[in-house]
Amino acid sequence: MAYKVPRLADFSPAGLETAARELLGALEAEASSVGNETEWKIFRDRWMARKSGVLTLLNDLWLKAAPQESKREVGQCVNQLKARVEVGVEAALEKVHGGAGGSQLLAERVDITLPGIRRPSGAEHPVIKTLNEIVSVFRDLGYSVEEGPVVETDYYNFEALNFPPHHPARDMQDTLFIAGQAAKAQCDRLLLRTHTSPVQIRTMEKMKPPLRIVIPGKVHRNDPPDASHSPMFHQVEGLAVDTNITFADLKGTLDHAMKSLFGSSVKTHFRPSFFPFTEPSAEMMVTCFICGGSGRRGPDPCRPCKTTGWIEILGCGMVDPNVFEFVKDNGYDPKKVSGFAFGMGADRIAILKYGVDDIQLFFNGDVRFLEQWR
Ligand code: DAH
Repeated sequence: MAYKVPRLADFSPAGLETAARELLGALEAEASSVGNETEWKIFRDRWMARKSGVLTLLNDLWLKAAPQESKREVGQCVNQLKARVEVGVEAALEKVHGGAGGSQLLAERVDITLPGIRRPSGAEHPVIKTLNEIVSVFRDLGYSVEEGPVVETDYYNFEALNFPPHHPARDMQDTLFIAGQAAKAQCDRLLLRTHTSPVQIRTMEKMKPPLRIVIPGKVHRNDPPDASHSPMFHQVEGLAVDTNITFADLKGTLDHAMKSLFGSSVKTHFRPSFFPFTEPSAEMMVTCFICGGSGRRGPDPCRPCKTTGWIEILGCGMVDPNVFEFVKDNGYDPKKVSGFAFGMGADRIAILKYGVDDIQLFFNGDVRFLEQWR
């Protein structure tokens, strides 16, 4: 006869003890007759199933039914029994596994003839891929990689880059400011960095010259989104500082980098420009790698270069001595060191390289678009 949890009438310590002994005896007897895993599952459910397992019935028929004055002892007794039942059920499973030889092997068997699970492989985002390609060209030249915060202070984004407060050059960069900063001194106010150039200062503060670094990263400007603008985009910045760095070094380095990126037939061209943190400053053009510099694609005008045969690809220049003044104490004496810097938009390069006609496609997360780079 299988054990059945009795409705307790006698809640005295002696009565409890008799009932508990009976229950444990039944547990032992049933456990010893478990011979395989299927039997063990039935055994486990009979004792531990939530719905009407022995443990649940103990709660209902013993604990809940106990008169107020015995609740404590009955509770303790039920708890002890629960622990014993759990251990007993566990032990029965171990016995099945250990004792019955092959049954554990059976339980863990794997059918190696079943087809595998195919996990779709991800892919590098085209903009990240482009960033990495640019970075690796410079890494091959011995440059190391630095990064900096996207939420930046006015000091690093503007002031230490030789944009004085109220200087009109700040207007070139439609800045997104963090709200609620008016109480702070201007140089401490937070904003979303408008370029990767602040990392030039951050790096020169912590590393002494000579220095050769590239800085990939995310930047923000208050540009309404359209096919060629996004309020968030990516830049790669570069900085080389040493003794006797000249504009010839800048030209040679960037010309080599463009040939590595776009092919050895690409030509570069420098045009004077202005940036507060470089003097002299230049914009660099490369021959349009869509039309090869001809300005035409067969009978049609070449759109990416607007038929000019040239594409503006980056800003650059010789580091302004005023910038070195901000990090002079770390070995950047403008009388002793010189350097060049450059910054380019990675999204624009990705657009040109892959012939994408809308920058928004990069960021609106449509998997059908992104899958093309797998
Ligand atoms: N920071 C500039 C921009 O976002 C780009 C740039 C120009 C970076 C000249 C440089 C540089 O390092 O030397 O428009």
